[in-house]
Formats: sequence, C-alpha cells, structure tokens
Amino acid sequence: MHGRRNAFDLSLYGLFLIYLSFFRIAGVKIIGHDTTVVKEGSATLFCHLTETEENLTHIIWQKQTRGNPEQETFFIIHKDGKTELKHDIQDKVKFIGSIKEKNGSIQLLRASLLDDGIYTCIFNTFTSRQIQTSINVTVLVPPVGNVSGSTHVSDHYEVTLASCEASSARPAAEVLWRLGALSDSLRTETSITQHSDGTFTVVTRILGAPSKHLNQRKIQCVVKHSTLTKELELDHVLNVHYPPELVVIIPDDSKEAEEYHCLVDCNPTPTSYIWIKVNGSTPHSEGNKLFIPKSSPDFNGVYICTASNEYGKASGVLYVGNTGSTDVCWDLFGFIFNCAILVITVVCIKMPLRLFSDLLRFY
Ligand SMILES: *[C@@H]1O[C@H](CO)[C@@H](O)[C@H](O)[C@H]1NC(C)=O
Ligand SMILES: *[C@@H]1O[C@H](CO)[C@@H](O)[C@H](O)[C@H]1NC(C)=O
Ligand SMILES: *[C@@H]1O[C@H](CO)[C@@H](O)[C@H](O)[C@H]1NC(C)=O
Ligand SMILES: *[C@@H]1O[C@H](CO)[C@@H](O)[C@H](O)[C@H]1NC(C)=O
Ligand SMILES: *[C@@H]1O[C@H](CO)[C@@H](O)[C@H](O)[C@H]1NC(C)=O
Repeated sequence: MHGRRNAFDLSLYGLFLIYLSFFRIAGVKIIGHDTTVVKEGSATLFCHLTETEENLTHIIWQKQTRGNPEQETFFIIHKDGKTELKHDIQDKVKFIGSIKEKNGSIQLLRASLLDDGIYTCIFNTFTSRQIQTSINVTVLVPPVGNVSGSTHVSDHYEVTLASCEASSARPAAEVLWRLGALSDSLRTETSITQHSDGTFTVVTRILGAPSKHLNQRKIQCVVKHSTLTKELELDHVLNVHYPPELVVIIPDDSKEAEEYHCLVDCNPTPTSYIWIKVNGSTPHSEGNKLFIPKSSPDFNGVYICTASNEYGKASGVLYVGNTGSTDVCWDLFGFIFNCAILVITVVCIKMPLRLFSDLLRFY
C-alpha cells in the first residue's frame, strides 16, 4: 500500500517535471541570421539564445561547406571561456559573443568560396539539452570585366563584332551592351558558364554584319553585380576595315604653288597614293599631296589620284585649267563650273582611266 502510494507520487512528480520543461522549451528562442560575405571579407555569424534561465555548458559550431560537404564540428566554446578550434582554421574563426549572455556569435575571417555553406550553432545547457539553429553563409565574388573585339572586314554576313565578359563571379553577373542608335541593326546573345568552384562567367556578344558605317562607333558594355556599388562600364570602339570607296581631291589654299590633297574614305588609311597626269609626264607629288605651279598653263590637264589599301583601290580625278594671269573656266567643262579648278569625285571606279576616256568621247 505504502509502495503504491510512493509510485503514484513519483509519477505525479514526473508529470510535473515534463510540464515544466515543456514550458521552458516553448519559451526558448534561438536567433540566427543568414549572411552574405564578399570573398576575402569577414562575416559575422550571429547566434543568440533568449528567453531561457538555463545556464550553458558550451556552444558548438558545426558546418557543412563547399570545402567539406560532411557535417563537421569546428569550434567549441566552453562555459569557462576556453575554446577548441579545428587546427586548419585557427586564424580564420573568432568567438565574438559571450557565453554568459548566451551569445554564440562568431566571426569568419578572409572568407573563401570553400567557406560557403550551412553553419549550425548549438547551445548545450546544464540539463543536457541541445538547442540549435542553422545559418546560411553565402560567399560572393565580384566579377572581372573584360571587353574584346577584333577588327572586321566589311561584309554582309553576320559575325560577332565584340564580346563582353564578366568572369568568375558569384552569383552570375548581369552583362549588357549600350548600343545607342545601333541597337536596331545589331543583336546580342548571352551565354553563362558555371565553374566547378561555384562561380559563373557570363559572356554577352554583339552580332551584326560589319558594315563600314560601324567603323569607329563607340559602344559600352555594362556589368552589374550585387558586390559592385557602381556598375562597371567598359567602353569599346568598333573597328571595320574596308577598301577605298570615295576619293576626293581638294585644293590647299596656299599662295605660291597650288597644292592638292587626295582624301580617301577607307580603313586602314591607304598604303599608297599614285598620281598621274593623263597624257603627261609624272607630276610632282609626295604621298597624298600633288604640287602644281599656279602660274603656268603648261601644267593644265587631268590628274588622277589612285589610293589603295590591302582591300582594294579607288581613284579621284582633278581637272586643272590655269591661264597664267587670270583664272578662267576651262573650255571643256566650263559650263559646269565657273572657276579654274574642278574637282570631280569618282566613286568606286575600278578602272578610272577607261571611264574618263568614255567621258571625253562623250564630249
Ligand atoms: C545560472 O548561473 C547563475 C550564476 O552562476 C546562477 O545564479 C543561476 O541560478 C543559474 N541558473 C540556473 C537555471 O541554473
Ligand atoms: C552578440 O555579440 C555580437 C558581437 O559582440 C554583438 O554584435 C551582438 O549584438 C550580440 N548579440 C546580442 C543579441 O547581444
Ligand atoms: C538556407 O539553406 C538551405 C539549404 O540550402 C535552404 O533550404 C534555405 O532556403 C536557405 N535559407 C535561406 C534563407 O536562404
Ligand atoms: C580579355 O579577353 C581577351 C579575349 O577574350 C583575352 O585575351 C584577355 O586576356 C582578357 N583580358 C583579361 C584581363 O581578362
Ligand atoms: C591623250 O592622248 C590620246 C591619244 O594620244 C588622245 O586620244 C586623248 O584625247 C588625250 N587625252 C587628253 C585628256 O588629252
């Protein structure tokens, strides 16, 4: 009888205990915050136990990272302040909390991509309870921006005109082109590559036919990433090669000798200029310059400048009709212009001489 009563009392006491600890568990709150850190920077892993009167025996930190996907204990903080830290991370982790205040916060220094993962903060109490929470640590890597583009030869077929690359970033960067007025004639294509270390390389290419009108046009690549306070702006100038297409001969306004310049629309600049006088001896010239004494009618005639670069050649024609003292119109073409010097532009003539003789025959 006596024994049964004792047993009853004990079970009552047990129920009371269960009730008490339930009450306590319900009140306990553990606070941890996910965090992001830029590679090489330091991250604070906040972890705090609140609303409990229980004293702690120790705080344990575990992690599951890219460097080691197995859950491992790397840090133990005892109630007397002593700490146990895994050897290989001695100088990478620091306890910054306070066991008295039930603050388990730690600092992770010089974060690397291998530190990216899930960290678990465990509070051990005198009643051998474990209260834990997990914190995601995300390591970010800023992109390295790079623009590249080669020289293209004018053509009607679509090619990659330029590429903009944001490499080794985490997460992937956003890469776009500011094309201005060219956005109607060009298009872009983006590809993303994921590397084994968790970083991404994003390449955005511009595609279009390399027409000569694109030559020397300025465009800009923009790289955006959460680690960058300001977006990265990378300038690029398109370069398109094309043969001479337009040759114009213009006079210089010097007094003594008449000097003419052969102006050519092409890229790159002509490698050679050849001056000839039709039915005459080789005129005095130097590169793209032609010299004709102003006062003598002996030099009247038709001059041709032929400019060439590695892609082709084109010619321009000059008619000179000096009378010596006064400038009057040259008979043949006088009805077109009322001055002594005529500049006629010949566009894209493969055989300017033949065309010119055709012209003469016409007159
Ligand atoms: C916790 O420790 C303090 C001081 O050491 C003590 O006064 C208190 O009673 C302890 N609390 C519990 C729940 O054991
Ligand atoms: C815990 O400790 C850290 C580092 O000292 C501090 O910044 C943080 O405010 C503390 N948390 C609380 C809740 O006191
Ligand atoms: C933390 O990581 C886990 C596992 O990867 C994921 O399920 C959870 O959504 C993450 N939490 C946050 C807030 O990102
Ligand atoms: C930029 O890209 C070009 C071509 O893709 C490459 O040759 C060069 O090394 C890159 N420069 C940098 C700084 O990454
Ligand atoms: C050049 O000479 C040819 C024949 O000698 C002649 O037919 C042609 O008209 C001349 N051209 C000029 C511009 O003098």
